[in-house]
Amino acid sequence: MTTKLDIVQIRQDFPILSQTVHGKPLVYFDNAATSQKPLQVINALTDYYTGYNSNVHRGVHFLADKATTAFEESREAARRFINAASLEEVVITKGTTEGINLVASSYGRKFIKEGDEIIISTLEHHANIVPWQMLCEQTGAKLRIIPINEQGELLMDEYEKMLNPRTKFVSVVYVSNALGTINPVKEMIKMARKVGALVLIDGAQAVSHLDTDVQDLDCDFFVFSAHKVYGTTGIGILYGKKEILESMPPFLGGGEMIKEVSFEKTTYNSLPYKFEAGTPNIADVVALKYAIGYVEKLGKANIAQHEHELLTYATEKMQEIPKLTIIGTAKEKVGVISFVAEGVHHFDLGMMLDANGIAVRTGTHCTMPLMSRFGISGTARASFAVYNTKEEVDIFVRELAKAIQMMS
Ligand code: ALA
Repeated sequence: MTTKLDIVQIRQDFPILSQTVHGKPLVYFDNAATSQKPLQVINALTDYYTGYNSNVHRGVHFLADKATTAFEESREAARRFINAASLEEVVITKGTTEGINLVASSYGRKFIKEGDEIIISTLEHHANIVPWQMLCEQTGAKLRIIPINEQGELLMDEYEKMLNPRTKFVSVVYVSNALGTINPVKEMIKMARKVGALVLIDGAQAVSHLDTDVQDLDCDFFVFSAHKVYGTTGIGILYGKKEILESMPPFLGGGEMIKEVSFEKTTYNSLPYKFEAGTPNIADVVALKYAIGYVEKLGKANIAQHEHELLTYATEKMQEIPKLTIIGTAKEKVGVISFVAEGVHHFDLGMMLDANGIAVRTGTHCTMPLMSRFGISGTARASFAVYNTKEEVDIFVRELAKAIQMMS
């Protein structure tokens, strides 16, 4: 089956893609780090700053009202995008990292106690490891780690064995940023429920590829960043079930999150504003509506199908390259391919590809424990987005094979 999308047309929406790098046409395969932005998103930023820049929720004048309306329209777009039941459940954050820190800090310090257990997995990004380690240090709770197999899939039997009445929280990644593995999160949530544990899903790498319905998943928290789904950097969404968010203390104190302040006592604002202290990144929040609208217009299923074709095509071609090993070969994967080459450092591979205009990420991908699990210091990683093409894969595979042959 070939894609229903007009990729040539889509590429016109992303001006950055039509440049040359080191004299070669840019091949941008670093989408797991951040996606490029369509004109619709870029123009939304310009329109905001040239037309209605103003603070939100604070003024009675025309510009303040217009900015507030646009800001709240993005919240509604995000609610729709993940199918949250109400706007009160959609908190605007600086990104996935802040969302997880907010939950670990606010929920964790109130409800997690010494001897409680928190489960994460070997596939986690540092953002879903360190906040829980910090919480464990503060509370005396214990962190437990779900192991993986050689393909980079979670060992579900081990997960099941870990769950027990002391398990108070499970925080797992939906899609591994380093390997592309899609985790069976719906099943994992059901299993956690049996012992009464709450579940946070790190959706940073999932929302641009997979349909996400937080009510269907029945997760307690869900986090993602705008910049990995064609939006801009510096903002993200924390979804939380209303009654749980209500039970949590504020994360940061300041303006906007209060109802009344006196030197004797402060009362807090209602949801979601209780968790939104300070002037937010208004322009980028406003632009989120356009990023979500862009994905909705193309259709998640069409995007996923196109990226899956690229993944299959690239994987087959890469498997023919001598001395190359793909790290992460899960049955359920998104368009992320991590790889190493015998006798060649991943950093050198990245440099050689860059010299040919090809952008891939090299290193540990903020998943050092995962790299240790495979006994490697890092990988090179190609990751696809809707605007990538098979012709780009051909260029990438050709230059990769040449680089390995030359350096190994
Ligand atoms: N977490 C981002 C990545 O996977 C930055 O590259």
